[in-house]
Formats: sequence, C-alpha cells, structure tokens
Amino acid sequence: MDVLKLIEELKVIPLATLTSEEEVLEICNCLSLASIPVIEVTLRDERVKNILKYFKNYSNIALGVGTVRTVNDIDLALESGASFIITPGFSSSLSSYAKNKGMLLIPGIQTPSEIIQASEAGHKILKFFPAELSGGVERLNAYKSVFPDIAFIPTGGINEDNINRYLNLKNVIASGASAMIPENLVCNKSWDEITSKLINIRTVVNKV
Ligand code: 3PG
Repeated sequence: MDVLKLIEELKVIPLATLTSEEEVLEICNCLSLASIPVIEVTLRDERVKNILKYFKNYSNIALGVGTVRTVNDIDLALESGASFIITPGFSSSLSSYAKNKGMLLIPGIQTPSEIIQASEAGHKILKFFPAELSGGVERLNAYKSVFPDIAFIPTGGINEDNINRYLNLKNVIASGASAMIPENLVCNKSWDEITSKLINIRTVVNKV
C-alpha cells in the first residue's frame, strides 16, 4: 500500500529514537500487535544510524526516518530501506535531493512563508512542528482557507488527550507523537506497556 495512504488510514505516526537491534525487534513487534505498521525513527542519537538497517527484517513496518537535516541523512534513509523521511524544517536543497533519489520527503513548517516555499517545491503534505508550541489547533485551523490544497501532519506535544482535536480538522491527515513509545519505557524494556499505549491510541483515533 502507498505509504501516504497508510498514514492517512492509521491517522497516527508513532515516533521514537531507537538505539539497539533489540529495541528495533521489540518495537516492531509492539507495532504489529497494535496494528500500527508505521514508525518515524528520529536521528537524535548517533547510535540510531547503526540500527536503522535492522528494519529491513520487518518489511511489514513502513519505516520513516525523522530529524533528517543533511543529504547524508537522506542517503542513510535510502540505504535503510525507509519509505519516507521527515525534516524538522523546509530546505529546498534537501527537497530536490530527495526528489532526485525518489524518496518521499515530508518537510516541517511553522509559518505561512515556509508553507509557500514548501508548496512551490511541490510538497502538499507538510509536518506542522512543533505543533503545540506554535499555536496548535487554532493556527492550523487558520491555515485551512489560506492553504486549502495543503494537508498537515502536526507533531510536537501531541498525545492521546489532544490528538483528536487535531484530527478533527479537515486539513489534518495524521499526527505524529512520541507519547506512545516514551524513552523511559524503551529503556526499561516495558514492551507490554508500549503495546498497550499503541493499542490505546488506535482506539482513540478511531473515534474521529
Ligand atoms: C518531532 O520530532 O516530531 C517531535 O519532537 C515529537 O514531539 P513529541 O515528542 O512531543 O511527540
């Protein structure tokens, strides 16, 4: 299935910074049990670069590489078999590099100027980041009539309590959140608890 269709259908992209082969294996298992076959793994720790390759063993999970800031990061995502990449902001050079390599890139934006730049470069699906700190639901609502052709994936400060306020907006297709795979639960190897959190978010978003 087309990864954007999958994201739209799931309405949520769990986000995590994983640092070992065991974490990849266990989290892929949690995602499978919760029927959420997508994840954004953020490049926020040097060790992440060495573990992305293990996702190749889990072809049922669509891997997104997040916090992509350089062309080397894009190359790494390509080598790791990622289905998409997410940049925290918009960069025309990263945008063209990804396009030339045939890699789906979802750029981050915050302001109307950034939306126009990203849109000019052909991006119609944008990450709104950091969502809660940047005006949240009200700001995205204000973008609806100005940018009717743009769909957003808000991320940053979103959890099971506020996710549906975003998903109820017509210009939001899905939301990213790390709340279901918190760092402390990963460190403590609390895989059952993570699975429960993922199942819970699926139940919550299915109410929209
Ligand atoms: C991101 O990279 O999209 C955000 O840091 C995720 O924000 P969260 O941890 O508040 O979900």
